Parts: sequence; C-alpha cells; structure tokens
Amino acid sequence: MRSLRVLSGVLLATTMMPVVMAAVLADVEIPSDEASLQRGAQLATSVCLGCHGFKYLRFGNLQALGFSDEQFDSLRAGQDLDAALDSYTPADVARDLYGVVPPDLSLMAKAREGGPHHVYTLLTSYYTDESGVTDNHLLPGVRMPDVLGYSSAATPGERTELERQALDVVAFLSWAADPKVEQRERLGYFVLGYLVLFAALLYVLKRRIWARLG
Ligand code: HEC
Repeated sequence: MRSLRVLSGVLLATTMMPVVMAAVLADVEIPSDEASLQRGAQLATSVCLGCHGFKYLRFGNLQALGFSDEQFDSLRAGQDLDAALDSYTPADVARDLYGVVPPDLSLMAKAREGGPHHVYTLLTSYYTDESGVTDNHLLPGVRMPDVLGYSSAATPGERTELERQALDVVAFLSWAADPKVEQRERLGYFVLGYLVLFAALLYVLKRRIWARLG
C-alpha cells in the first residue's frame, strides 16, 4: 500500500512537472514571418555565432530566407556557401573563458523543454541585483553572459526592443531546427494533387469496367 502511494506520488509529480515548468516560461507567440526570420538570422550570425556554432546549417541555407544579395553578402562575411556556421570562438578557447563549451544551437529550439519559449525566456530573464551582480531568473548561475543586454535596459521601451530581438532570434532558431518545413508543405500539396489525380483515374477505370460489364 505504502509503495503504491509512493508510486502514485512519483507518477503525479512527473506528470505535473511539465505544467510547473511551462508556467515559468514566457507565454509569447513565436513569429515565423520572413522579416523576423531575417532579423533573427542577422542577430544569430552577428551575436550568437560569437560563442555558439550551428553545425547543421550552411551559409547557403540562409539564402532560403529571402535576403537581398547585398544583405546576404554582409551576413555571410566572405564565407563559402557550403561552409558550416561554426562559432568564431574555438571550443577550447570557449572552455577556458566560460568553463564550458557553449552548446550547438542548430537544434536548440527542440532540445529543451518548452523549446523556443525556453530560449526566449532565458534571453529575457537576466537581471542585476542591488550589489551589481547579474544573474538569470530562469537558469540561476548560467555561464552565458547577458548577450542582449536585457539586465541593463533602463526603460520599458528598451526592454520591448530587446524582447523583440529575442523573439526574432528564437524565430530563427525554430526555423533552423526545422529548415525543411517549407519543403514539406510543398510536398504536402504535391501528395494531395497526386491523390486527387489517382482518385479521378480510378473513377474513370471503374466506369470503363462497368460499361463493359453492362
Ligand atoms: C559570449 C559568449 C556567448 C554568446 C555571444 C552567446 N552565448 Fe549562449 N551560451 C554561452 C555559454 C557559455 C553557455 C553555457 C551556459 C552554461 O552551461 O552555464 C550558453 C548557453 C546557451 C543556451 C543553453 C541554455 C540551457 O538551457 O542550458 C542557449 C539556448 C543559448 N546559449 C542561446 C544563445 C543565443 C540565442 C545567443 C545569441 C543571441 C547566445 N546564446 C549567445 C555563451 C554565449
């Protein structure tokens, strides 16, 4: 009986856990429009790439986001189209600096509970306390610095701007974790069209066969 009660307690705790964790994450809508994705890609390559890599992305993949030639050239900064998005900081240097190698961000939007909402909340949870120490509400003691400068935003307007930047980056991370979305949607239409054609063909066949029988 006792063990049953313990077991049900454990079961309850594990099913409640996602609910409790989700409550901590910001309830925001992750954009997926081209303008957000473009701004997100620009931030990711100019800021995040300083410490993190995106090993499953190549610079050429970013062309799918509809940049003008000029924007794309400045984003890629002379890199080959088939070069992977490696961090500008080599792993051993990063380990010396931060005590940890910053994780690859290619699949980060899927890697954590809450996905993009986890990353958004992380970026917008930095604060500085009275003694001047900067920390993070979501991940206290996290070794990533406040890269967007959220903890030093002085006005609500500044905070809103940084929240928009965080949304853009997270939109880009979601796209990066699933760059085949658009292709898959197109494939969906193709399959539908094929099914419609196939049904029409069957109908014609059926009519012919029955005509012959009749
Ligand atoms: C100055 C270096 C630096 C930059 C720039 C940087 N990061 Fe990080 N990041 C880190 C380090 C170091 C860690 C590992 C933190 C730890 O394990 O304590 C980390 C961890 C993370 C994590 C994982 C947190 C977790 O849940 O464990 C995410 C997500 C992340 N960074 C996103 C970003 C994004 C998005 C950007 C760009 C806006 C960015 N980082 C820019 C250094 C950096």
